[in-house]
Amino acid sequence: MLRAMEALSSSFLATPLIMFPPRRSSLDYDVSSSFRFSAKSSHHHPNYFTPNSSNKLIIHTAQTLDQTLKNKPRPVGRKIKRKHSSSLAIIFKTLDDLICNFLDLPLRHSIDPKRVLSGTFAPVDELPPTPCEVVEGSLPSCLDGAYIRNGPNPHFIPRGPYHLLDGDGMLHMIRISRGEATFCSRYVQTHKYMIEQEIGYPIFPSVFSSFNGFGASIARSFLTLAKMLTGQFDPIRHGFGVANTSLALFAGHLFALCESDIPYAIKVTPDGDIVTIGRHDFQRSSSEWFFRMTAHPKIDRETGEAFAYRFHPLWPFLTFFRFDSEGKKHKDVPMYSADGPTLTHDFAVTKSYAIFPDVQIVMNLLWILRGRSPVGVDPCKVPRLGIIPRYAEDDSEMQWINAPGFNMLHCFSAWEEDGGDIIVIVASNAVKVEQVLERIELAQLTIEKLTINVKSKSLQRHPLCTRVLDFAVINPAYAARKTRYIYASIIESKSLVGVVKLDLSLTMVDGGDCTVASRFYEPGWCGGEPFFVAGDPNNPTAEEDDGYLLTYVHNENVGESKFLVMDAKSPKLDIVAVVKLPCWIPSGFHGIFLSESDLNKL
Ligand SMILES: [Fe+2]
Repeated sequence: MLRAMEALSSSFLATPLIMFPPRRSSLDYDVSSSFRFSAKSSHHHPNYFTPNSSNKLIIHTAQTLDQTLKNKPRPVGRKIKRKHSSSLAIIFKTLDDLICNFLDLPLRHSIDPKRVLSGTFAPVDELPPTPCEVVEGSLPSCLDGAYIRNGPNPHFIPRGPYHLLDGDGMLHMIRISRGEATFCSRYVQTHKYMIEQEIGYPIFPSVFSSFNGFGASIARSFLTLAKMLTGQFDPIRHGFGVANTSLALFAGHLFALCESDIPYAIKVTPDGDIVTIGRHDFQRSSSEWFFRMTAHPKIDRETGEAFAYRFHPLWPFLTFFRFDSEGKKHKDVPMYSADGPTLTHDFAVTKSYAIFPDVQIVMNLLWILRGRSPVGVDPCKVPRLGIIPRYAEDDSEMQWINAPGFNMLHCFSAWEEDGGDIIVIVASNAVKVEQVLERIELAQLTIEKLTINVKSKSLQRHPLCTRVLDFAVINPAYAARKTRYIYASIIESKSLVGVVKLDLSLTMVDGGDCTVASRFYEPGWCGGEPFFVAGDPNNPTAEEDDGYLLTYVHNENVGESKFLVMDAKSPKLDIVAVVKLPCWIPSGFHGIFLSESDLNKL
């Protein structure tokens, strides 16, 4: 019973923190009020945009999408035995619809599917491996491999409130071999995805959108419990995550992750397709319930270890753990000194320490009784940074340092100086944290360099750029090492409009701008998080910025997407190759590049 309660509360803690509000465009679709409930229709699908043979976008209706889904190959993930009867499913669906129609409050901007799923985040259907044309320049040989990006793409349109972070994870992969490319898009076949595909409509609750008014909150809580108890879905055994946030390569596996579940193992096939292997529990101890971890684990390339954590609305609120190079999970290290439930989206790891931000985004399950999401902002809380040895067996050596005004969202680099007395962190900060969940474009994300003196427990903060920036990366070979260059996405008008290269050696005590190169995409085009790939990874004398930046860009007005390759060393981040993708793809979150040798090891 305890696990059932914990699973229910955990099911309210879905997915990643960051989002981009949508904007309307020529790709907007219309969701009329009749879309939300109709006695004549048992399925409610969005209009999905897919390419036809001439690379023109076509828009699915509910009927054509049904046909598309019937033609899909069966999921290859773990087979799930469900106990629910079809009549029970109909009853639950009817109750779901009644809540949507009679109990939900008017939908706010951030949970209105008409807004969230239009424009830059309009969902698309899957696409099998499809050849692409290199329309400009040529693909460098170091890019032989695959670039994969994760992001939310709901399988079914919700009948009621929907938050961007609720979307099913979809992977967009460009596979490159000897200068030629193929592209494919596949869902991560999560427990949620497979159950909902079988039932034909969305049934899982969401922490960010399900609790929309007192009546709707109470009703959905009981309905969720009823679905669990009758076996319609089983989050205790199979999880409830959407695997929509990021990708990571460690312990000999490629994983799709989100912070509401454990990772899903993914495999790239020789013909350039993606298949889901299933939830991966890392040879955990049989006495330990391993049910969730961060979407931003930190991997030590030298030792092969991976470090991770989970946050939780119930005590203990923060738990640290690691995996060895063989993929074995070590025992949990509960952080008893974490004095409240915090939504911790990312953290930092150096050679000796793990550093956890304790931000103003907090959780309180009692807020559900007030008809609101259990995730919110506590403006009175003073943000802190918690520092603990990364091989700690318990939290007795944990120390906390106040960091007023620092609500870390993503950490891009961290290392030690002066024999470990100094920790340096480069991270993004939500200056107006109260907007992160509702209107991210108003959150004013900046990138800062923090210098922590572990002995004196002092903290210095240095802004690196005056622009609004996030979704940044470094040369991955410099993880946990002193880093000079950061490549960050420029956020303007709710979109990622370009990339900026920051040189940390230019950091000044009183701030200033460390920009040394930048590129804005063409008007009408917006991009995603870049990824750095070394030009010659086997050259030990190569400079840190000898390499390329990869990203997808899209133009929703013309319904096209491209894959860009930029020269990271050039003063203007010159474009060295452009691949036209076979279809338009929406914005996403985090990605990864795997070399040919990485792929062969999977
Ligand atoms: Fe993230």
